[in-house]
Amino acid sequence: MPSIQACLFDLDGVIVDTARFHYIAWRKVANDLGFDLSLGQNELLKGISRMESLDIILSIGGVVLSEEEKIRRATEKNAHYLELCQQMTPDDTLPGVRVFLDELKAKDIKIGLGSASKNARIILVRIDMLKYFETIVDGNRITRGKPDPQVFLMGAEDLLTAPEHCVVFEDAVAGIESAKSAGMFAVGIGHKSILTEADIVVAGFDEFRVADLLVAFGE
Ligand code: G6P
Ligand code: MG
Repeated sequence: MPSIQACLFDLDGVIVDTARFHYIAWRKVANDLGFDLSLGQNELLKGISRMESLDIILSIGGVVLSEEEKIRRATEKNAHYLELCQQMTPDDTLPGVRVFLDELKAKDIKIGLGSASKNARIILVRIDMLKYFETIVDGNRITRGKPDPQVFLMGAEDLLTAPEHCVVFEDAVAGIESAKSAGMFAVGIGHKSILTEADIVVAGFDEFRVADLLVAFGE
């Protein structure tokens, strides 16, 4: 029976609630183009890279833009998003996350980040969480986004850990798929009805401790 040697965390929606800022900024892009973006439609964007997210939004609105115009809109969206993120403080770290990471450290379980975001480091600095991560695999390093397993396989390689000894924490359907195709144990953060492929699903870290993870993993 393999033991847990490394934990790989998604950022947005797992460590920190940035989804609301992504939503505000994407909604403005949609509104500027003459249509609206619902919260349900925003679910489709979780874990998906910036340019792919824009493509999904444009298809929702039935809008076609040139490559140049797409880059302009995505750049504008990112500037707006980063402006919104300036309101963020260490208090915006999701409940229980710090305690959970401290517990992992105490047990010598390695910690890595696996995020599609190109802003991952900026966000980790803002919430004062950079120090926890032994490796950061972000949108600047990967060539294939979630649901491809690349992001988590790179993290495991950085941490010199075989996939069967890795646990992934993810709030996005695409991220759970990525973890499962990497051959890792996947903990969904959210709802069972959405994260159907996860090995277990928890609401968040406020009522989930490393001891619970070890039990779920079969240790
Ligand atoms: C995460 C979020 C997505 C976001 C993506 C890229 O995966 O869940 O909503 O689109 O990162 O983020 P970025 O900060 O690079 O635009
Ligand atoms: Mg996420």
